[in-house]
Amino acid sequence: MITLFTTAEAINLKQVESTNSYLKELAKQKEIKEGTWVQAEYQTLGRGQIGNTWEAAAGQNLLASYYLKPKYLKANQGFWLNMSVCLALYDTLKNFYIPAQIKWPNDILVGQSKVAGLLIENTIVGKNIDTAIVGIGLNINQRKFKSSKATSMVCVLNKNLALADVVSVLQSALSLRYAQLKNTGQASIKQAYVKHLYGWHKAVMLQDAGGFFAGSLSNVDSNGMLTVTKSSGAKQRYAFKELRFLL
Ligand code: BTN
Repeated sequence: MITLFTTAEAINLKQVESTNSYLKELAKQKEIKEGTWVQAEYQTLGRGQIGNTWEAAAGQNLLASYYLKPKYLKANQGFWLNMSVCLALYDTLKNFYIPAQIKWPNDILVGQSKVAGLLIENTIVGKNIDTAIVGIGLNINQRKFKSSKATSMVCVLNKNLALADVVSVLQSALSLRYAQLKNTGQASIKQAYVKHLYGWHKAVMLQDAGGFFAGSLSNVDSNGMLTVTKSSGAKQRYAFKELRFLL
């Protein structure tokens, strides 16, 4: 693994409620090193975005949380880390010859199905981010899902992968993208992120409070707000949860 944090610990668990919650509790008890990695074979209470649960069959997928201290990011720059992690997932899939796209703000798609999601939980001290728990769910060897909108790497490749191989590629990608963010700032990360966005300068079907419409994604602010250009030419900005993609 190419890592910025050579002394960081890796914690492997058979079963846990949630790897994010585990790290959160651990941080209350002791000082955790940046780069600490917690991975579980199974989560009994896996958490997803907007209070959803994250379901994943035991031992077949990547369920992990990465502990970071991006203290150089302002409290309102959390989206920069979000973009970096999305790119690391994109890079990982590319490494296995799987063409992915990012569905704003942080779902990873293959075709129109979701292969990975992330849940980043930050703590703030003063005006800056102090710690970030980066929770990642990447579907690897699971073939059947309750949701018709989910997929996995095996569904695309039709061959099982060794979890450890995927983890190693992902850890390197995370480390590289995190270093890129830290060293070159947001601009280069944003440039790469938008390039892989589903619907970037391309009409897709969307839904907002006013109903269904066709629009293309034309900008993402540094705080993660999305600008959509409607087919009429009108532009509108959206926060997360104000816009739905019809996949
Ligand atoms: C989403 O809803 O798209 C986000 C899913 C994030 C799931 C991962 S699995 C590992 C980590 N622990 C959790 O409880 N959630 C995240």
